[in-house]
Amino acid sequence: MQRGLFANPAENAREPLTEGAVLLHGYANPRQDGLLAAVQEVSAAAPFRNMITPGGQRMSVAMTNCGDAGWFSDRRGYRYDPIDPTTAQPWPPMPDLFLNLATCAAAEAGFDAFRPDVCLINRYEPGTRLSLHQDKDERDFGAPIVSVSLGLPAVFLWGGLTRGDRPRRIRLESGDVVVWGGPARLVYHGIAPLADGDHPLTGRVRLNLTFRKAL
Ligand code: SIN
Ligand code: FE2
Repeated sequence: MQRGLFANPAENAREPLTEGAVLLHGYANPRQDGLLAAVQEVSAAAPFRNMITPGGQRMSVAMTNCGDAGWFSDRRGYRYDPIDPTTAQPWPPMPDLFLNLATCAAAEAGFDAFRPDVCLINRYEPGTRLSLHQDKDERDFGAPIVSVSLGLPAVFLWGGLTRGDRPRRIRLESGDVVVWGGPARLVYHGIAPLADGDHPLTGRVRLNLTFRKAL
């Protein structure tokens, strides 16, 4: 693991959220251009698409994946699939830079053995939102979630272990990384409707990379 790629003590402010969850401010900043280029490479092979929920709604967030499998939703339900149902090809492999970032950030948060096998990439445009949910389609909740923000800022909704818990509103900037696991692994979270803006890295877009051990 090349910790030096990301650990930047000057920018690396840690903000504990709840037990098991930490926001690493600016952790991905030193590699934002490389991360964006890798997203473009992945999405050239597996295009962003708006998936359909089991209830028949079109999700406003556009998604793609890389790694050994991809998160997918359609009328049949939520699941991980090693084949992209849109292209009928395997999802693109996880770029080394992604793997490095996810393992280093997890270690920084106290999860030393994290080896993600999938990365969900979300693309938000102004007005797009992601309603409160738990990440619970993975086989093993022993592994944490590592979530990386690029581009336009967002309001992260950080709730509790039940849907009714009133969420905190946390501003996420480009380069911020949130890691949650252990007692926080099943916390409800979401993204408030994205405010319009123009970001030097991405324009009118926010990207989020979510690393998980799913299989
Ligand atoms: C997610 O929960 O899948 C994404 C969260 C985010 O976009 O920050
Ligand atoms: Fe999530």
